[in-house]
Order: sequence, then C-alpha cells, then structure tokens
Amino acid sequence: DLGAERYAKLCKSCHGADGSNAAMSKPLKGLPAEDVKTALLGYKEQTYGGKKKAMMERVAKSLSDEDIEALATHIGAF
Ligand code: HEM
Repeated sequence: DLGAERYAKLCKSCHGADGSNAAMSKPLKGLPAEDVKTALLGYKEQTYGGKKKAMMERVAKSLSDEDIEALATHIGAF
C-alpha cells in the first residue's frame, strides 16, 4: 500500500525496515499513529523537532497529506 511504499523509499534507510533503529532518533516502532502524524505535520510546518530536525524537515516537506496519513497508519502498526 501507499504507506509501505513510501516508507520503504523514503524512511527505511534511516529508521530501519521495522522502525527499530534508535541511532537517528528514538525508535519509531511503538509510536502511536497519531503521534507519527503530529510529528510529520510539525516537521513539514517547521514547528516540531529536536536537534536533528533539519534531517526530517528535508523529507517531510515533500510529503502530501495523503502520504502523511498513510505513513502514520503504516508506522503505527509496527
Ligand atoms: C525523527 C518519521 C525519514 C532521520 C522522526 C520522527 C518521526 C520520523 C515520526 C519523530 C520521532 C519522535 O517522536 O521523536 C520518518 C518518516 C520518514 C523519515 C515517516 C520518511 C518519510 C527519515 C530520514 C532520515 C531520518 C530519511 C535520515 C536522513 C530522523 C532523525 C530524527 C527523526 C535524525 C530526529 C529528528 C529531531 O531531532 O527532531 N522521523 N522519518 N528520518 N528522523 Fe525520521
């Protein structure tokens, strides 16, 4: 589906296939979908994040609302 496709293409390299890579940030695995959505919208609007937020702002600015919904659902199910 769209979430799996976007995740594999845009996110996996940093966060790991199942979101368990903790080297870039805390693991995405275990985050509720609603929190993923809040974070992605915030990175896109540049109103959210920590010291490494520039890395996420770069990818989030290319995400549509549909991409964000699909990614949140996909990651929320890890
Ligand atoms: C943080 C998702 C791509 C590196 C986050 C967070 C989310 C997320 C939800 C926030 C976690 C929290 O609550 O703290 C995604 C998604 C991606 C993606 C859905 C693909 C669309 C990437 C890529 C990189 C990356 C490609 C590396 C170039 C990071 C880093 C943080 C982070 C360094 C911490 C940023 C900070 O300091 O605020 N990511 N990510 N992510 N991600 Fe990604």
